Amino acid sequence: MARAYAHRGLRLILTARRTDALQLAAEELAPTTEVVAMAGDVGDPAHAERLVRAGLDRFGRIDVLVNNASELGPSPMPELEKLNTQVFAEVLRVNVVGPLKLIQLVLPPMRARRDGLIINVTSDAGVQAYPTWGGYGASKAALEHLSRVLAAELEGSGVRVYVVDPGDMDTAMHRAAEPGIDLSYLPAPASVAPAFVRLLDTDAVAGRFEAQQLVAAAV
Ligand SMILES: NC(=O)c1ccc[n+]([C@@H]2O[C@H](COP(=O)([O-])OP(=O)(O)OC[C@H]3O[C@@H](n4cnc5c(N)ncnc54)[C@H](OP(=O)(O)O)[C@@H]3O)[C@@H](O)[C@H]2O)c1
Repeated sequence: MARAYAHRGLRLILTARRTDALQLAAEELAPTTEVVAMAGDVGDPAHAERLVRAGLDRFGRIDVLVNNASELGPSPMPELEKLNTQVFAEVLRVNVVGPLKLIQLVLPPMRARRDGLIINVTSDAGVQAYPTWGGYGASKAALEHLSRVLAAELEGSGVRVYVVDPGDMDTAMHRAAEPGIDLSYLPAPASVAPAFVRLLDTDAVAGRFEAQQLVAAAV
């Protein structure tokens, strides 16, 4: 997604907890666009403030916020009866509370400019009731409802709120969710990145989108 946005000409603030992959991404994209890479936890309010301050100081404005980072919880995933509630609170901290904090930080300047796009990345597990996916799934359901209420509150503000389900992908998180299963047949994240670019130019003020359908429709 960062690569696709960079090639579209967007300047980027990127974050992840570990510095290695983050630094590699920043180095790869530096010849294409301006990149600020800041390691930290999106569930940490102080890190959220650092990210948004860096965006406003360096670029003068933030056009798009993508809440993509996500916490799965334990692997293998337990049924709800056995889900440690402190672990569940951690899943909610990263997947719901952190995104809301970032939204609260970017909204005032977006409202002032009457322009902005907030994309919250969700999952079909936030809609369908898959056994053992309850902790993560409940966090995505909360993120989706938060997005719906936010969109209602922002009606007429010029700020768009989208929820995007990227669909099944072969990633570290998905492999942790289904340990021992060969997921190499699934698409790579890069294959759905064009959907996130397409949404930059979508007129809808709010909505839930399936990234793989957006990509297929464009072909
Ligand atoms: N993979 C799928 O099949 C699938 C399906 C539906 C929805 N999704 C959604 O798609 C999004 C991306 O998932 P993915 O499968 O690409 O996950 P992933 O492979 O685990 O990648 C997640 C990225 O977020 C970063 N991250 C995780 N927790 C973080 C935190 N607390 N603070 C900052 N950065 C953090 C990770 O880097 P660090 O570990 O270095 O922090 C990594 O760069 C998620 O919202 C997920 O729920 C995925």
